[in-house]
Amino acid sequence: MGGDMMNLPIRPRRNRKSASVRGMMRESSLSAAHLIYPMFVQEGAENTPIESLQGCTRWCVADIAAECKRLFNLGIPCVDLFAVVPEEKKDAAGSEAWNPEGVVPRAIRAIKAAVPEMTVMTDVALDPFNTYGQDGIVREYADGTYEILNDETVEALVKQALCHARAGADIISPSDMMDGRIAALRAALDGEGFTKVSLMSYTAKYASAFYGPFRGALGSAPKFGDKKTYQMDPANIREALREAALDAEEGADFLMVKPATMYLDVIAAMRAHSNLPIAAYHVSGEYLMVKAAAASGWLDEKQAMLESLLSIRRAGADMILTYAAPQVAEWLRGE
Ligand code: PBG
Repeated sequence: MGGDMMNLPIRPRRNRKSASVRGMMRESSLSAAHLIYPMFVQEGAENTPIESLQGCTRWCVADIAAECKRLFNLGIPCVDLFAVVPEEKKDAAGSEAWNPEGVVPRAIRAIKAAVPEMTVMTDVALDPFNTYGQDGIVREYADGTYEILNDETVEALVKQALCHARAGADIISPSDMMDGRIAALRAALDGEGFTKVSLMSYTAKYASAFYGPFRGALGSAPKFGDKKTYQMDPANIREALREAALDAEEGADFLMVKPATMYLDVIAAMRAHSNLPIAAYHVSGEYLMVKAAAASGWLDEKQAMLESLLSIRRAGADMILTYAAPQVAEWLRGE
């Protein structure tokens, strides 16, 4: 035996020789404490399973609070609320977005009353609320072209964010990608005394094909055109660092990259360039790729989902927004 041994003093496998040694050497980890769960809230008294986003539900205000209590007990510290808006409440301006009796402010109040410890984040953007399915205010021109107006949109986002803050939101997360909205939101929140309300900026949100199932869930797909004049080109990474520098200057409390697993390089670059906490959004298409492959028997759902999310943590994200949060919290608890 001895004669066959290689002269190999350095053997990396020694650090992988047993479960306990591997545990000691592990560089990154995933726990429920890192997870933010996106939730959909709708009018009426029904909870509707979302066919296009398997495992997710459109919650009614009456039941979302009890669900949040269950999630908090599973160890999930934060939920992110999105409104499902019936067509008859949509208009060109998206004015339902700042209705104090809209589903989001009502859900915030219900959740904070039932589970005050749950951190409630809300999405700020106009696409579920306007008839265009665009994140901002649309100006249409006689020749059939259109433009998403920046500064007018920021004014509308301020109204929406203040409406959420007045209802008790802890974190406002603008997903619109307009220029200057972080500074404007910070000033408006501080102006009304909401100095404790945080801002999570969608710093680098790419014009991605992987949002399709989410738009189906909300009925918020753009009625025409695309989002490429405000969401980022998937080819770019330096631009993400430019956005990150601006968000930091404007007062963002933490940054976010979206989607996550196709953009791990962006997360890592942002981690290297910024000392702010970083979140990543594991979006609907990324989530469903794993679910669909598992449903076909091609992947082990639990192992593939946990590995996807761990890769996001390894790249440098502190927090992960994912539709898998409840399931993952249960898996991690069972281990
Ligand atoms: C829109 C918004 C989108 C998502 C979150 N906020 C879609 C879009 O930009 O068209 C996508 C989330 C997902 O796919 O899971 N403000």
